[in-house]
Amino acid sequence: MEINGRTRTCGLIGNPVEHTLSPVIHNTLAQRFGHNLVYVPFPVETGRIEEAVVGASALQLLGLNVTVPYKGEVISCLREVDSLAASIGAVNTLVAVPGGFKGYNTDMEGLYRAMMSEGIQIVDEEIILLGAGGASRAVAYLCAVKGAKRVYLLNRTLEKAQKVAEEVNRAVERQVILPMALTDFDSLPDRKFLTIQGTSVGLAPHVEDVVIDDEKFYAKVHTGFDLIYSPWETRFMRLVKKRGGRAYNGLKMLLYQGIIAYELWNRVTVSEADAATVYEKLKAHFI
Ligand code: ATR
Repeated sequence: MEINGRTRTCGLIGNPVEHTLSPVIHNTLAQRFGHNLVYVPFPVETGRIEEAVVGASALQLLGLNVTVPYKGEVISCLREVDSLAASIGAVNTLVAVPGGFKGYNTDMEGLYRAMMSEGIQIVDEEIILLGAGGASRAVAYLCAVKGAKRVYLLNRTLEKAQKVAEEVNRAVERQVILPMALTDFDSLPDRKFLTIQGTSVGLAPHVEDVVIDDEKFYAKVHTGFDLIYSPWETRFMRLVKKRGGRAYNGLKMLLYQGIIAYELWNRVTVSEADAATVYEKLKAHFI
């Protein structure tokens, strides 16, 4: 693509941003659509997120992704916030609107599309969710909104799981999230569950860490979905497979959160064939 006077810019704001794979997603899509668009990383110093958003609007950037540590803080800098993002309390995508940006959360829709693409159901399912941090809270909300029958929210600190359960149950007006201490997994019903790993435990370079070490737990897992994608196969995934379950990493979630952002910025629909091409490019960074 030739960069010229009509080239539009999208990018990622966060700190750090050096290791991001998002340019692979968006620049590949721009090439496939023939869009005159570039996507670049923008590191933002602590305390300067508001300046960054105001500046981005002044420069008429088409859109931005937002990553750690600004997904919550950015909300107060926006003109509008989509209702799902507002409920989750985290925004990862900004779309230009008159006078500023509207915030969305494509991480959760991305996780949902990734699961659908693997044939993993949420509706009417009983699900185990590990962790009660920001990411798990968002996943709990997603499962509740997408019609899960029940979510057993297992966390090291029970009080945190209770707090998340109360918030989400109140928001969806049904008792769908059941908080439990990690150590009580033995009291789960005697059957197999879809299990989502929503903590950063096991993330590179701490690749031997895992939230639940006890192999007995993995007899309860028919499908394990780890939000982590680096390493390619986490210890959680290995333990799921060892007990005969299927295991997935978070790379498709990364793929689809990017695809949904690209669709919002450019008002297009990305085909599954294009999604597959981008996925192969992302995968090449790992194996
Ligand atoms: P976020 O999603 O907000 O970025 P995170 O820091 O990735 O959060 O992960 C936080 C979650 O990982 C919490 O649920 C935390 O449990 P506590 O609430 O008890 O702190 C969980 N966590 C972190 N280290 C853990 C460990 N060694 N064993 C079990 N759970 C752990």
